[in-house]
Amino acid sequence: MIFDTHAHYDDEAFAEDREELLSGLKANGVENVVNISASIRSVENTLELMRQYPFIYGAIGVHPSETEELSESRMAWLEEVSQEPKIVAIGEIGLDYHWDEPDKEVQKYWFVRQLKLARKVKLPVVIHSRDAAKDTLDIMKAEKAEEIGGVIHCFSYGVQMAREYLNMGFYLGIGGVVTFTNAKKLKEVVTYMPMDRLVLETDCPYLSPVPNRGKRNSSLNLPYVVKAVSELKGISQEEVIAITSENARSLYRISIASQGPASVR
Ligand code: NI
Repeated sequence: MIFDTHAHYDDEAFAEDREELLSGLKANGVENVVNISASIRSVENTLELMRQYPFIYGAIGVHPSETEELSESRMAWLEEVSQEPKIVAIGEIGLDYHWDEPDKEVQKYWFVRQLKLARKVKLPVVIHSRDAAKDTLDIMKAEKAEEIGGVIHCFSYGVQMAREYLNMGFYLGIGGVVTFTNAKKLKEVVTYMPMDRLVLETDCPYLSPVPNRGKRNSSLNLPYVVKAVSELKGISQEEVIAITSENARSLYRISIASQGPASVR
């Protein structure tokens, strides 16, 4: 069964049919979902979803574009919340230089601060890095992120950068973009990378794969991503699903027996 390692089901795009959609996932081959926070408000929403649905896990953290809302008192709250048993990661955190705001120094400060939180609470990180390849890698090296572990979500750089993160022990999150005809760079990365570091993600409601590109995304579209990966790697779709689900559980330290986080903390 499919494991969606990165979804935003608290997004207002799901306001109308969230319950119906989530309740139908299992019957459509999707076994687990990690709902990823992007702001303080979405941390609260993620906690609610996680408590309501046994198959949903949560990641808590503040997206680089929202870092101006962070403060030390909010960091203390995040640390407290991270102790909930179904919280499996700190994220999404990182750098996004696509937009001018917030200031790069603000983004960098809170990226480092949230990496330190992950180290302290012994959780892996979910990294968002857009148009900020060098600064992201520099910070992660300086913070010894290889000791923290995690995933580079919606990996968007080339083979050389992929090698850097794979050498640090990170997983790469692959989603709808791999089905786009113009995604030459990402197809090269998928061909290059070892299968045991690849995890599937939607980033829904964003980044729907072909043939649903441009429409609202959901975990139900992951079979299109599975198909694209199976063609690039020359293995069956069943193998892609089995390997990536095992990778996802290993990334988020979820043991199959308990279907809860392993006792690593
Ligand atoms: Ni995301």
